[in-house]
Amino acid sequence: MKKTSLILKCCLMLLSVIIFIISGFNGTPTALASEYTDTSVYDYVDNCDGIGYLPPYTQENLTDAQKRGRCTWYLWTGGNAKYYRYLAKRTQGSVDLLKLVDSRIHDERFKRYGAINDPGCEKATAADKYGLWLDKCKDPLSTGVIGLRKFNNPNFDQAKWDAQKYTTNVNIEPPYVIGQSCAICHVALDPLNPAKDKEHPQWENLVPALGNQYIKENNLFAGNILETNFIRQVLNSQKPGTSDTSRIATDHINNPNAINAIFNLGDRPKYPEVMNDGSTKEVNHILKDGADSTGVANASLRVYVNIGMCGDYWTTLHEPLQGRTPQKPFDIEKARKECEDWRQTEARMADAEAFLKTIKPMHLADAPGGEAFLTKDEEVLKRGKIAFAQSCATCHSSKQPSAEIAADPEQAKKWYEESVLNSDFLDHNFLSDDKRYPVTLIGTNIARSLGTNATKGHIWDQFSSKTYKELPSPGTLELPSPVKGETFNFKIPNGGLGYYRTPSLVSIWATAPFLHNNTLGLYNENPSVEGRVEAYTDAIEKLLSPEKRENIISKTDRKTKLELPQGDPNPKAKIPIPEGTPVNLIANINPKDAIANFNIGNLFKDLKPGGGLKAILTRVLLRFNKSPDFVENKGHTFGSELLDEDKKALIEFVKTF
Ligand code: HEC
Ligand code: HEC
Repeated sequence: MKKTSLILKCCLMLLSVIIFIISGFNGTPTALASEYTDTSVYDYVDNCDGIGYLPPYTQENLTDAQKRGRCTWYLWTGGNAKYYRYLAKRTQGSVDLLKLVDSRIHDERFKRYGAINDPGCEKATAADKYGLWLDKCKDPLSTGVIGLRKFNNPNFDQAKWDAQKYTTNVNIEPPYVIGQSCAICHVALDPLNPAKDKEHPQWENLVPALGNQYIKENNLFAGNILETNFIRQVLNSQKPGTSDTSRIATDHINNPNAINAIFNLGDRPKYPEVMNDGSTKEVNHILKDGADSTGVANASLRVYVNIGMCGDYWTTLHEPLQGRTPQKPFDIEKARKECEDWRQTEARMADAEAFLKTIKPMHLADAPGGEAFLTKDEEVLKRGKIAFAQSCATCHSSKQPSAEIAADPEQAKKWYEESVLNSDFLDHNFLSDDKRYPVTLIGTNIARSLGTNATKGHIWDQFSSKTYKELPSPGTLELPSPVKGETFNFKIPNGGLGYYRTPSLVSIWATAPFLHNNTLGLYNENPSVEGRVEAYTDAIEKLLSPEKRENIISKTDRKTKLELPQGDPNPKAKIPIPEGTPVNLIANINPKDAIANFNIGNLFKDLKPGGGLKAILTRVLLRFNKSPDFVENKGHTFGSELLDEDKKALIEFVKTF
């Protein structure tokens, strides 16, 4: 009797879950209305150097093209301010860049958001004529935060404006709209010239593309979402230094990934891949999964769209944040024809790429006090080099043997050892082969490799090569289930999913924690040389000795409710989620797919093998889960079989990269 009532209860609950999910599934994408053309974005200066808008050069004299590229990298938004105004309204003020740049939090922007203060600005001492508190800056378009740019809002109406009312009613048109440049995520505190005060760096303490390892994107999105809302738990699971680049055009996977450093671009290997028109082109494998594979210019333009450029068009192709309608591919030709910002930005990409190619490695030996952390023992270094040759260099080097040598294991081994021992091994070495490897081999958390946005028929279809879209499934993984003692099989789908590209190890001493999701190793929020070396040492020890890792699984830390439709001020349903639930058990479900694949026969399979209601529900949810892999800092156990002495030596060698 007891058992039947349990099953009955369970079925009722399941049914209610399904009804709730369906009831959320009636949204249609609301397009971003073509309210105005943001011409003020073109007021921006191409000659932005030496006038207090940017850091001084540190490396070498740049050509005029590289200088223009540098201005683009730091300052150009591609007209996306309009999109962020739309997003502010869509999220009822939860994601409002204008509130974020309030000067009253000038002195704690780093602490709260990991945002970097513009050294050319000062904290406001009073509200402006509109009642807004904004930094006072040399650069008239600066907001005071590096990478956030301020433009006049053409829809502003002084008669309707009320700064006080705006704090609770985001629909009142404010005097300014805020856009984002690439700098917000990529500009970082300089490891070779650490800021004395991380809240108030000077220009010489900033570098263009190390990746902001301290950015807290989750706090940017959290706004007024309550801790008892399940969405808040998803945001809380995001690590600093990461961005979930498939949050807005959502792939229904919670997969924030590290903003990686950009170095030695000129030495990055290229591979022939078949393009969508059938031609073959030599391309880099850009992004963690190598999905951006139609060339650097397309990859960069795609990022501009992903941060809001041509939003009028982009937002007609997907439903932002909720993703309840199927995505449609972004059509490059249409954008080129119809979106002025696309053309303006495309014309800048060659210069931007030329600038990015000037960025050179940063060596610990050149950091203040760096020498103290480096071994002087040549024997140790030699031992580390041999270990690297034997366990790492097949993937983490752009210097590779010929196919003939590589085919013979004995010859290949000899080749790598000689190559690594050469004094110029590190010169012009991208320290990655830029190849995609199956996640079944790499063994790290699968989430990022399963991102579907670049697969056939999805939003970035035209930005990935045919070769990428035709990659076979790397196979089936046996994964541990949240139900104690159980495992289950997960077949990776065909069509591009399940691969990770080898990341570069250039200046890796400065960018721990490790792995695509920034989960491996200590996060100490300490950008000093000592702090970086401490984080590096912890991360690489855990990399080489997996037994030292503390299985990280993000779980809800209290009872929460999943509100559906998400983000609706009057949700139709509130599904209770118990404390201790793995966040991604729920977060990685696409309700629409779940309905499409719903099969009563499967459900009965899940009902059969005991374990109580919770176990049954978990099994059902696993079946619908797009990435049911919960341990975040696992895998990549290369080198774990090395002797301790070899590991120590390897750690010393890698520190010199
Ligand atoms: C919201 C944060 C954010 C912004 C803004 C941003 N990026 Fe990135 N960028 C990332 C993340 C995260 C990655 C790593 C993504 C991945 O590999 O999946 C990345 C990686 C890159 C890479 C390196 C990829 C590789 O394979 O090495 C390039 C190049 C790049 N971004 C260009 C740009 C450009 C151009 C812009 C401005 C239009 C920009 N980014 C703006 C977060 C950001
Ligand atoms: C089969 C190819 C392969 C081999 C061999 C290999 N790696 Fe990797 N490595 C990868 C891939 C792919 C990743 C990205 C995994 C991820 O982020 O999920 C990676 C990631 C890393 C990272 C993290 C980088 C970052 O930016 O967070 C480090 C550090 C690293 N590897 C060091 C090593 C060392 C040291 C060795 C030798 C002991 C080694 N790897 C052997 C392919 C390889």
